[in-house]
Amino acid sequence: MQISQEKISLRQPDDWHLHLRDGGVLKAVVAPTARVFRRAVVMPNLQPPITSLQDVVDYRKRIESVIPKELAFTPLMTLYLTDNLSPEILKEGYSEGIIFAVKLYPANSTTNSASGVSDLENIYSTFETIEEIGLPLLIHGEVTDPDVDVFDREAVFIDRHLDPLLQRFPNIRVVLEHITTDNAVQYVQSSNSKLGATITPHHLHINRNAMFLNGFRSDFYCLPVVKREHHRISLRRAATSGQPCFFLGTDSAPHLRGFKESACGCAGIFNALNAIESYAQVFEEEGALDRLEAFSSEFGPAFYGVPFNKGTISMVRSSQTVPEKFNVYKTENEFEYVVPFHAGEQLNWCFESTSY
Ligand code: NCD
Ligand code: ZN
Repeated sequence: MQISQEKISLRQPDDWHLHLRDGGVLKAVVAPTARVFRRAVVMPNLQPPITSLQDVVDYRKRIESVIPKELAFTPLMTLYLTDNLSPEILKEGYSEGIIFAVKLYPANSTTNSASGVSDLENIYSTFETIEEIGLPLLIHGEVTDPDVDVFDREAVFIDRHLDPLLQRFPNIRVVLEHITTDNAVQYVQSSNSKLGATITPHHLHINRNAMFLNGFRSDFYCLPVVKREHHRISLRRAATSGQPCFFLGTDSAPHLRGFKESACGCAGIFNALNAIESYAQVFEEEGALDRLEAFSSEFGPAFYGVPFNKGTISMVRSSQTVPEKFNVYKTENEFEYVVPFHAGEQLNWCFESTSY
């Protein structure tokens, strides 16, 4: 890694948690990610979700067909765990290299999770297989119990479900996705090296006040929902700590404007336009730019046991104003849009180029 006042060059990063969607949105959002990141773990919560190996193969082809030719980008595919997914499918999918990981959504915890797992205890035999074959298990860590306050759902999930799961299956490689609380930071820090966590740019930048600034702002609504300031501070410390259990996962989750504005607006923040610059800003503010490369490009591959990328990316110090809208074309002239994270704000760093 090379850092000067004006330029940063670092090993090419990977995004360990990404939503690419499908159809016109997929076509629009793949390029901003692929020009910066070499690989990305692609989430399976489409409508309907990716629950069979054939779904995975087909979705991968649709993604590959829209990657710009000049960019090298590998989607790492995931399967969506349901109450009745057969362990044989996991064995076959993993041994044949079709799936990179399996994703666990507690049923109804977030966008398109209705077919998720209704009770973890019911699929303990599936966890046995997951542990035995060494398949990474990616967890959306929130309870869905309506009696639990929405701001407590991650912490309660850790106590009620994650801890018992890891006690029972201590060798499963688990990623607690997009962590949002000091409780999660402490839990991951104190666990063995088989538990990792991804941290998003938005959870490092905003706290829950952002959702209520002069009115309700659905652009800042995501799940797990952003929390109090002390949690954000804890996440910033964790991300910039140089501890290998914390690594980059943007959770970039585009929703067309109409779905964000509706009376029951969708959860998700689209940050793929400037994710690496957004992280760089946080690391600089924390005086930890020298640790950005490890977080973005080394701790993830080390956790998953895959090679580090060989290429590099560069960013230059140049103030950029993030666009207010990102257009998604339906036809040549007809389009809808997604509002990007940091819309209308200035970022200090600007992505320059990738060399492979
Ligand atoms: C994600 C989405 O829109 O698919 N939304 C979100 O708020 N993060 C789902 C998820 O990762 O929870
Ligand atoms: Zn996500």
